[in-house]
Amino acid sequence: MRTMLMFLLIAVIISLAGSDQRKYVGVNDCKLCHKGKKDGYQFEIWQKSKHAGAFKTLRSKQSEDIAKKMGLKKSAAESPECIECHAINDDKLKEDGVQCESCHGAGSAYKSRKVMKNRESCAAAGMAEFKDEEAKKKSCESCHNKKSPTYKTFDFRSSWKEIEHPIP
Ligand code: HEC
Ligand code: HEC
Ligand code: HEC
Ligand code: HEC
Repeated sequence: MRTMLMFLLIAVIISLAGSDQRKYVGVNDCKLCHKGKKDGYQFEIWQKSKHAGAFKTLRSKQSEDIAKKMGLKKSAAESPECIECHAINDDKLKEDGVQCESCHGAGSAYKSRKVMKNRESCAAAGMAEFKDEEAKKKSCESCHNKKSPTYKTFDFRSSWKEIEHPIP
């Protein structure tokens, strides 16, 4: 029994330590190394996209009307039912809306230059891998789907064209 408990305790500690390494750090950290001409304007492309304003959208009249209609108890900007797809649900990071880490994964463990330079180490540190086009499309569809109260249709190819940000 004792050893069982010890194992359990160790497992809990390990999993806590693991999750500790994978915190959301916010777009300003990514911006440090992913902006301007040399990096293909990755930050700037995001900043101009609708994703950057996705949390602000929840403060609009349209959002309030949707929240009321759905019978939510709080305002849209305070409701997990809306934040889920419009931002990282963290008081310090919400304002950034749908940001780098919403798609690439929490960055605290992969954002150092040493890790970033190597694809395998990025993946090992929790960065999302997109093996092919289907995988990219799937990741978009985790939000661009019929659970969105304003959903119309989602065309991956044309949508990706609007937000792509390749390394030059
Ligand atoms: C200290 C600088 C630095 C920071 C901070 C940084 N990156 Fe990077 N990142 C790099 C470098 C260098 C590369 C490799 C670029 C290359 O291959 O030309 C890279 C590559 C990448 C790649 C492509 C890697 C792959 O395996 O496909 C992604 C995606 C990425 N970064 C996302 C992010 C995100 C998201 C953040 C914020 C959480 C971030 N980076 C923060 C320096 C940084
Ligand atoms: C975390 C959720 C989330 C993910 C993942 C996501 N999006 Fe979005 N996307 C949104 C939200 C929310 C909006 C609406 C923002 C607004 O209007 O305030 C949006 C808007 C857009 C828009 C603007 C046009 C429109 O329909 O309003 C494009 C283009 C887009 N997304 C492309 C993509 C692509 C391509 C991917 C996958 C690579 C993707 N998105 C992944 C949440 C997401
Ligand atoms: C499953 C993910 C998801 C959820 C949950 C979600 N949204 Fe969105 N929202 C999106 C996406 C993706 C878009 C952009 C395209 C679309 O409408 O599908 C969007 C766009 C919007 C827009 C802009 C519509 C336009 O025509 O420009 C508003 C307003 C909005 N959402 C409000 C809300 C409110 C309010 C809630 C909570 C009641 C909510 N959303 C919940 C994913 C979501
Ligand atoms: C809506 C989802 C989404 C957002 C937001 C997003 N990315 Fe990406 N990003 C992707 C996808 C998907 C790919 C994979 C492209 C591929 O493999 O062809 C990618 C590719 C990259 C690459 C590698 C490009 C290459 O040529 O290999 C870098 C670097 C990168 N993103 C950095 C960022 C940074 C920095 C931000 C925030 C300022 C950001 N991304 C925001 C989805 C996103």
